Amino acid sequence: MLVFVELVLLLVVPIAIAKIYCILTHRNCNSKVCLVGKTALVTGGYSGIGYQIVLALAQRGCRVIIADKSQDQNLLEKIYEETRSRNIVCKYVDLSSFKSVRELAYNVIKDEGKLDILINNAGIGRNVSSVTEDGLDITMQVNYFSAFLLTRSLEDLLKKTGGRIIFTGSGSSHIHNFTIDRLKPDGSESFTFYTYFNSKLCLIMISDTFAERLKGYGVTSNAYHPGLVRTNIFRSGINLEGTINKGWFTIKFLEYMSFVVGKTAEEGAQTAIHLACSNEVEGVTGGYFFETKPTFRPKIVHDKKMCNDLWEATEEIVKQKLS
Ligand SMILES: NC(=O)c1ccc[n+]([C@@H]2O[C@H](COP(=O)([O-])OP(=O)(O)OC[C@H]3O[C@@H](n4cnc5c(N)ncnc54)[C@H](OP(=O)(O)O)[C@@H]3O)[C@@H](O)[C@H]2O)c1
Repeated sequence: MLVFVELVLLLVVPIAIAKIYCILTHRNCNSKVCLVGKTALVTGGYSGIGYQIVLALAQRGCRVIIADKSQDQNLLEKIYEETRSRNIVCKYVDLSSFKSVRELAYNVIKDEGKLDILINNAGIGRNVSSVTEDGLDITMQVNYFSAFLLTRSLEDLLKKTGGRIIFTGSGSSHIHNFTIDRLKPDGSESFTFYTYFNSKLCLIMISDTFAERLKGYGVTSNAYHPGLVRTNIFRSGINLEGTINKGWFTIKFLEYMSFVVGKTAEEGAQTAIHLACSNEVEGVTGGYFFETKPTFRPKIVHDKKMCNDLWEATEEIVKQKLS
């Protein structure tokens, strides 16, 4: 009996402490800024954190382009009911295909003429690897390479407005095993396990390089960590063939923890919304944020040479795959 009570306490106490910590440290975006006349593009805006970002921007009067592979006829009505905005456009993109990303960028450039906010939100985490039509690991391509390609392709639109770029990182990037060689799949289980962490690390590193490159144009680039959030990402990350490996246990653990101590998608979206519209971060660039405040990043992000090598290797890979 005593052992049972001890076991329960061992489980319940840390979870209760974690939950209280999350509640106490959570911060909302309090900006009431008007975004009428501005245009934002949000990838993965159909569900989870992305959907909440879309609502928040639309409520402030922003024109929002939702770029996602899901296409739901009822989505615009649902958004209208919540925001009273009809200034929303849905564009198809499959981020596991460079061809699709290029088509999206081409359409946005043709139809919009300017862009004020780009939120690279879409992401996946899988416990088994698969190789895309471009010959890259799917997690690395959806999370990292396509965000890079989309941002590069829309740079000129963002320069017109001195726009804001936001990359969705993750606290899990601290557990990376990244080297430039690991941008491409090597077929090992270890590669698969670390891919999500590495892809998020690459986004944080590349955000800094975008910040430096675009400083002269008034374009800002920042990355953020949403925290542990209850969304579909965990359920969609488990492979259907039922392979049980390290990645499977990690995803299941995170899914369980997100259910017990995680935030709602609305709470998880607050830092992105803050970076997208708050006057407080006007001109702030090259930062990494959590709960609307700057936070510490993995050590490797401070290695300028590594960041430059990553930029060059990424450009090379994307160029090769496109030609
Ligand atoms: N949830 C967390 O605890 C957490 C923690 C740290 C970071 N993040 C990051 O936060 C971001 C948002 O994730 P979330 O938790 O809100 O997950 P989510 O609910 O699964 O949302 C991800 C969105 O991206 C879309 N997407 C996936 N693959 C795509 C593709 N190939 N092409 C186009 N769109 C695609 C999904 O569409 P479908 O629904 O059609 O797949 C979905 O709309 C991700 O970058 C994630 O890595 C999440």
